[in-house]
Amino acid sequence: MNAFPFFEYRNGELHAEDVSLVQVAASHGTPTYVYSRASLESAWQDFNHELQGRDALVCYAMKANSNLAVLRTFARLGAGFDIVSGGELRRVIAAGGDPARVIFSGVGKSEAEIAFALSQRILCFNIESVQELDRVAAVAVSAGCAAPISIRVNPNVDARTHPYISTGLRENKFGVDIETAFALYRRAARLNGVRIVGIDCHIGSQLTDPAPLFEAQDKMLEMVDALAGEGIAISHLDLGGGLGIRYRDESPPDPRAYMREVLRRIGQRRLRLLFEPGRNLVGNAGVLLTRVEFLKTGDVKNFAIVDAAMNDLLRPSLYGAHHEILPVRDIGAAPRRFDVVGPVCESGDFLGKDRSLATAPGELLAVMSAGAYGMVMASNYNTRARPAEVLVDGRQVHLVRLRERPEDLFSLERIPDCLAAR
Ligand code: LLP
Repeated sequence: MNAFPFFEYRNGELHAEDVSLVQVAASHGTPTYVYSRASLESAWQDFNHELQGRDALVCYAMKANSNLAVLRTFARLGAGFDIVSGGELRRVIAAGGDPARVIFSGVGKSEAEIAFALSQRILCFNIESVQELDRVAAVAVSAGCAAPISIRVNPNVDARTHPYISTGLRENKFGVDIETAFALYRRAARLNGVRIVGIDCHIGSQLTDPAPLFEAQDKMLEMVDALAGEGIAISHLDLGGGLGIRYRDESPPDPRAYMREVLRRIGQRRLRLLFEPGRNLVGNAGVLLTRVEFLKTGDVKNFAIVDAAMNDLLRPSLYGAHHEILPVRDIGAAPRRFDVVGPVCESGDFLGKDRSLATAPGELLAVMSAGAYGMVMASNYNTRARPAEVLVDGRQVHLVRLRERPEDLFSLERIPDCLAAR
């Protein structure tokens, strides 16, 4: 299986769809995030394939990649969106997405965010605590409406993924345990300002074994049945996101096979199904294109110093995540082993360690699988302007985010009068 079917070598140059990445770098510079529209659409089709004809809504977890062009791509395909802030809701609206297909997750929704989301008539608030339930109800009462809610259940299932991206264990801050969830449903049923519509869980990210997802699903289904017995009707089941992708040699479940099993476990229940996939829809649809500045060779190690850094793509530094790094051109030289590092003043600044690469100063490298949690986690550390973003569509390259200028980075800062220049 090729993990990056929309990025392939043609005539010795790595292409995104029909565009050579050499050409992208020549027109837009580096570092640049490059997304493939066909790859986004293909991932969407794969995820939705088994859901045809079902009452289901896939809400793209836009935290993975919230560029407006990416959002618009999914909105045109009928996507809903899973948001975690008022800012994300504003992006959905700016991208032409439908607020009526938005679900609002996250443990710390502010009153202002709740009021704004209510005014936009979103589909559902995923409630993560009793405090939040009461806050949402109070805001809705003062707005003269009732907020549609789900309780986010933490089913105490081990997602067996990186601890930083595991969310379904009791020790995590997310959701409420099963007993508390029952108590919250009973409370919500009596509360003015909320209307129970669903139940929700999300146990972690980059799951390559689907067993924990099914275990969580079964616990949710038991709860749906038990709640029905108490006269509390649940109309939608939100199974969260988390389906992994291939970065290197993982064998994540095929989305269609995963979905067939989900549907089998639903059985005859008349439940609307919601999903919150992020990474699965965008991860392998993007690369970070970077240029080699220097090759610094030594007795112990060789470094390929490139113009992208941990501020542009944090995953390797933060999680020890592996991203394949491919030379954009075949330069016909023998490969050597390099740590691929950026210019940021931190030893933790690396994109890849101990990689076999045939490269040279001035050559381009593509850091693969950078479509999810790449640009969205970029920072301006070291006053580095964040990369440009382009969307490739067949032979066309569209600039979808301008490269920042250094002046942009301090334009919101002010020097107080008391520090007047002498
Ligand atoms: N729903 C909720 C409530 C979430 O918290 C997340 C991700 C998702 C859906 C989407 O999960 P996905 O389908 O993408 O696995 N920055 C980390 C990943 C953090 C995920 C946070 N929550 C990384 O780079 O691996």
